[in-house]
Amino acid sequence: MDYSQDEKKAINNISRPELPRRSPEEIRVLVEGLIQRMTVKELLGQLFLTAYSGEFAFGPEFETDDAVKLIKTGHAGSIIGTYDNDKAYMLQKMAVTQSPHGIPLLLANDIIHGCRTGFPVNLAMAGTFDPQLVESAARIIAYEAAHSGTSLTFSPMLDIVRDPRWGRVMESAGEDPYLASKMAEAYVKGFQQDDLASYDSVGACAKHYVAYGACEGGRDYNTVDISERTLRQVYLKPFAAAIDAGVVMVMSAFNVYDGVPITANKFLLRDILRDELGFTGVTISDYESTIEIIEHKIAAARSEAAEKCIRAGLDLEIISSSYLDHLEKKAAEEPEILSLIKEAAARVLTLKYRLGLFDNPYKNIYPDFTEYWLKPNFLEIALKTAEASLVLLKNKNVLPLAKTSKVALIGPFSNSHSVVGAWGGKARNEDTVSLMQGLENQGVDLVHALGSDLKQTSESQIQEALNVAMGADVIVLALGEHQHDSGEAASKTDIHLSTAQMELAKRLKALNKPIVAVVFAGRPLILEWFEENVEGILYAWFPGTMSGEAIARTLTGVNNPSGRLAMSFPRSIGQIPVYYNHLNTGRPPVDPKNHYTSRYLDSPNEPLYPFGYGLSYAEFEYQEFKISNSRLAPNDKLEISVRVRNNSDLEGSVLLQIYIEALNFSVSRPVNELKAFKKVVIPARAEQWVDLFLSYDDFAYWNLEGKNTPESRKYKVKVGNSSQEIYQAWLVETVLR
Ligand code: BGC
Repeated sequence: MDYSQDEKKAINNISRPELPRRSPEEIRVLVEGLIQRMTVKELLGQLFLTAYSGEFAFGPEFETDDAVKLIKTGHAGSIIGTYDNDKAYMLQKMAVTQSPHGIPLLLANDIIHGCRTGFPVNLAMAGTFDPQLVESAARIIAYEAAHSGTSLTFSPMLDIVRDPRWGRVMESAGEDPYLASKMAEAYVKGFQQDDLASYDSVGACAKHYVAYGACEGGRDYNTVDISERTLRQVYLKPFAAAIDAGVVMVMSAFNVYDGVPITANKFLLRDILRDELGFTGVTISDYESTIEIIEHKIAAARSEAAEKCIRAGLDLEIISSSYLDHLEKKAAEEPEILSLIKEAAARVLTLKYRLGLFDNPYKNIYPDFTEYWLKPNFLEIALKTAEASLVLLKNKNVLPLAKTSKVALIGPFSNSHSVVGAWGGKARNEDTVSLMQGLENQGVDLVHALGSDLKQTSESQIQEALNVAMGADVIVLALGEHQHDSGEAASKTDIHLSTAQMELAKRLKALNKPIVAVVFAGRPLILEWFEENVEGILYAWFPGTMSGEAIARTLTGVNNPSGRLAMSFPRSIGQIPVYYNHLNTGRPPVDPKNHYTSRYLDSPNEPLYPFGYGLSYAEFEYQEFKISNSRLAPNDKLEISVRVRNNSDLEGSVLLQIYIEALNFSVSRPVNELKAFKKVVIPARAEQWVDLFLSYDDFAYWNLEGKNTPESRKYKVKVGNSSQEIYQAWLVETVLR
């Protein structure tokens, strides 16, 4: 859209007036008054989020003209897809000046790990084990999104995942409920910034509620069948954390729980979400998940689907319009449906007030919005986050690269810019720093050949790579999967690198030169061959805009790697699911001579790389351990202290991890449960005491009587460097005084 100079000035002026901070009571009265003036159809309009096309391919039911008509009649209150301000301005103006009550639209988008400045994919961000850094990243994401007209992001994604075949692992914080809860809190704080009406923040939406990550076989949208205990102990935890942090929206997942799709599941949407977890914000369906309950065979038609969902507690419907099309008639027949519609509409309107949209519908709609993107300090944090998320998996005296080394840079990711990762928002591949550019920036003496494409190679490509590598001291082999091989609807049965890339790696191996594999992926891949055959492995994930800069600085030792795995890496596909916090069995494989234990004949049970694992160039010695007490009563705190020495000449980060193991309890509990972690930078040749704390409630678990309690029991408290590398354990008893 071309703005005239006058219009530009006018919009820039109306876009930033100081917004009143309205009290909840004031908002309640305003919303109540508004609802009284609205028709049922208009109320239903507030329960409908439609799409404005252009950027996405939307469902067959959607036409641009339809959206315009819906907005003007007040029959659509929220929009997805206005990823830039021209559209946002036009649609908002339509809603405010032409719809019956002038109610502003809620402009929502999927801004997942970056708006225009691309941050690492969320699984990599979780691996920073640095909630403060993730919060800083989320603030930037919110700032860029807000300044391009988005008022709410469908993020953070809080699904716990144990199966790397599922493409959506890249959006998640991995397999651990504690880490995911810390990340949930960081994202919500960063997005919402304790002030929804601010010009720099956006509303957050915790998704996909709940247990979507437990889809069988890693197949997207698939069946979920888990116990209530697992639901509560594992899958609900990060949602509870997001709600405590004040998240304003929760999105229902596509899957069933106990046979009932979440979108129509009263137990989850009302009893647990509202009554137990205390959520007062808006619930939203996933993309057409309301009418998908027909496919789940629990509703025969859209009218029945709509009724089931609103009764269950689902406020806002995305894309499909079963509420809008069918609930008016139902409301006329049944007063209960009418009051449910009013309640849901009140929640949506309250959110719009809280976001400041009634006070300034054009909040953050600027013609010159691109000026708010990719600022130098944003790129700095993007670089810091990317560096902190890289995981050094193996290093046999090859890294950091010697300054004098001649490096052969080979592989499909050697000069690739396709490193933003799925759900990249507006981040552009062309803004990214490729690995080759990064290494050049570090002044590395380079020779280069592709050697292979992602899925295909040829003898001449391989020969060229061999020739190039022959004259080098070390090979940096940049491999991986396509950035859209993970993400939504990107499930895979085979998570090895492609045959072409394996062929290239094997042929290079025959040269007997040291190889450092740099692996780009949105999920854990099977790396057993690399563990056995190459000298170094750096797991890059998809690091975003500053990708090549971060990796090159790490390979050359400017950055000392500190990223860890938020998900266990299986040795083979047959091991999946493999995750550290599994339950014990009656036959743990502790005695190798006993045949009848819970194990494989052809593989260890343990993953190739466990949760919490990651190497540093520094060498740390854990010299002394202290615990403040061996008994813990309600309101008590346990202090755990570790003296760590950095025995190297490089500054580096340690990550201390505290796990607990219940030695007896009314139900079987995981062999290890992460309960605290702390990342600390220790200067070269220095030592430091690191303190961590546990509370009585940290030992709680959903027990046999359905109570969340530590019971009066014995526990092992362990401190380690990963879920498998434990340095010290103490016995601790929980008591009621
Ligand atoms: C995804 C959600 C997303 C929504 C809106 C769905 O297909 O599952 O994560 O927020 O689309 O784009």
